[in-house]
Amino acid sequence: MPETNGTATIQQQLAAEFALAGEPKLPASNDGSVGVTMFDLPGSSDLTVTVLLGRDHLQRAPSQSLVRIRSVTDERSYLGVVTAGPFAEPDGLRADSGILTAVATHRADYLPPFHGRVQVTILGEELENGELTPPRWRPLPNSPVTVLNDAEAAKVLKCNGDVRLGLAVGHPGVEVGVPSQLKSVFPRHTAVLGTTGGGKSTTVAGLIARARAAGMAVVVLDIEGEYTALHEPTDHKGMLAGLRERGLPPLGVPPEAMGVYHLVGRGTANPNHPHLRSFSLQFAKLSPYAVMEILGLTEAQQERFLKAYDIAREVLRDLDIFPMKGNVEQERLALEIDELDRGYPRVTVPLLIDIVCACALRAEPKSDKKKRGKVGDDEAEEAPKFVPWSRELKLPGGTDALNSRMNAANPPGNAISWRALQGRLGRLNRLKVFFDETKEGTRPVNYADLIKPGRVSVVDLSDTGFSELNNLVIADILRGIQETQDEAYERFEQQKGPLPTPVLIVVEEAHEFLSDERIDKTPVLFEQVARIAKRGRKRWLGLCFVTQLPAHLPKQVLGLCNSFVLHKLNDPGVISLLKRTVGGVDEGLWDRLPNLAPGQAVVSFPHFARPLLVSIDPSQAKLRMVD
Ligand SMILES: Nc1ncnc2c1ncn2[C@@H]1O[C@H](COP(=O)(O)OP(=O)(O)OP(=O)(O)O)[C@@H](O)[C@H]1O
Ligand SMILES: [Mg+2]
Repeated sequence: MPETNGTATIQQQLAAEFALAGEPKLPASNDGSVGVTMFDLPGSSDLTVTVLLGRDHLQRAPSQSLVRIRSVTDERSYLGVVTAGPFAEPDGLRADSGILTAVATHRADYLPPFHGRVQVTILGEELENGELTPPRWRPLPNSPVTVLNDAEAAKVLKCNGDVRLGLAVGHPGVEVGVPSQLKSVFPRHTAVLGTTGGGKSTTVAGLIARARAAGMAVVVLDIEGEYTALHEPTDHKGMLAGLRERGLPPLGVPPEAMGVYHLVGRGTANPNHPHLRSFSLQFAKLSPYAVMEILGLTEAQQERFLKAYDIAREVLRDLDIFPMKGNVEQERLALEIDELDRGYPRVTVPLLIDIVCACALRAEPKSDKKKRGKVGDDEAEEAPKFVPWSRELKLPGGTDALNSRMNAANPPGNAISWRALQGRLGRLNRLKVFFDETKEGTRPVNYADLIKPGRVSVVDLSDTGFSELNNLVIADILRGIQETQDEAYERFEQQKGPLPTPVLIVVEEAHEFLSDERIDKTPVLFEQVARIAKRGRKRWLGLCFVTQLPAHLPKQVLGLCNSFVLHKLNDPGVISLLKRTVGGVDEGLWDRLPNLAPGQAVVSFPHFARPLLVSIDPSQAKLRMVD
């Protein structure tokens, strides 16, 4: 049979079939509707309804768009969101019917009549005053469905804020942002998660620049030095194209509003930054417990470290270094210090090394002391020849104070453990990162500068070399900011100062600082973060954790966060963990998570009416490329 005849037969057959089935009666769209609700099926479930779209309107209800359903006869109005579809279905026949399969596979030049179908999740029943209430009924069948315009959608989604993130997918005219001045949002902490290349840094760069512009103080703990060029406009081709599409100019953070901090003796990823500052750490401000965790001391070393720390405290008092005699303020401070929170004033690493060294000598068996070249059998000559090295113990009376405090403290024996500890402290000292108040030199960070409104401070950790040092810096900076913000808050409460500046602290590669594997070993570090998180709510301190390995982050850290920006995520384990943590995200959105394009994210903030799929703005400022 000639082919044309065969095709004609199929077309005729089809036309006859469709004529038999009849076209579904969809309302004329002069009421602006794009479709109508379908009858329910035995499998229908609450809060979701199927909507049939006329063929001409198939493209008008894209995924994530908001719709209004005016239920016929009962006159109720519902708002919903398209969570699946739009699907195209042939009129009157099953899509997998033999005849349609034949049409497609034989490439017959015939497009059967079809209509669209979307699944709508009902957000609520719309009251006369515009409020939404949980629905008690469902939209009746054949109710017309209209798509909300962008202005209406923005009102329903409640997703605006001065710190713009991007545009809502489904309503590309709707800006999505975060209100910088709402205490219930940033100070309740944020997590930016996603696999590598998902767009986290781009999101964070935008967040930094816009939060700053809104008057917040932003501090970035930048492990890779990615954010050290934010004062320049972006020159990334992809970003420039994306910005053009959105009518946004390339734009750097004003250089005078930005500072790049790097640790003394360490380099920076961007030596050309106009406002580079090196800084040192304050050992005395670090909680001895946090130091022990960061150094990974064994139990035996910890016991000795704490003993040495006790002795150091007493010696400092004896030597009138701290607290100074008669100084009431210092006496009060000495009593009030919570050493889980911060260290004891004026304790230095060299002082601790001296004490540890003296304890080691004392613990050495006599025969060893002899071996050290001490001649004669005289007991006095055999006494450990401890030669102080630290500035404190070289002061007049230093060694006496040490000896008497050591006698009183009766430190544990085992010279090997003491020597091992001495080695750890020696290594710490050789980092040469601690500030000595008695010497000139690179000063610690001035935290008051960091919390000025409209400032961006990037702490560049790209050259610190190893993660213990990073963690020392991060612990020091977190504590410093918290303390300074606490003071600002107290002044405000006593009506002696203005409302504290809202502060946002970004912790990049958060899984390295707070890892699930280590949380058992670093409870103090975690407690410090948890404390900041808890106080943050009252004192205007928001944390933003960024990581590509959310599975390595302790669950407790995610538990501190109320806002989430979820870029592409593949790991089913992580997704199911997040499902338990982030509320209100519908299945359709979760399903999309593994396939999101770079720059797309499922975003959930407390001020949103519901979590949204957002197309995040490309970064206007320059991100340094890291290989
Ligand atoms: N919002 C966006 N708009 C346009 N392009 C984007 C966006 N976000 C990311 N991209 C593209 O994806 C690339 C990777 O983004 P980015 O560096 O932000 O990802 P990341 O999640 O931080 O990756 P990593 O885990 O490697 O740090 C960018 O160089 C850019 O090409
Ligand atoms: Mg990144």
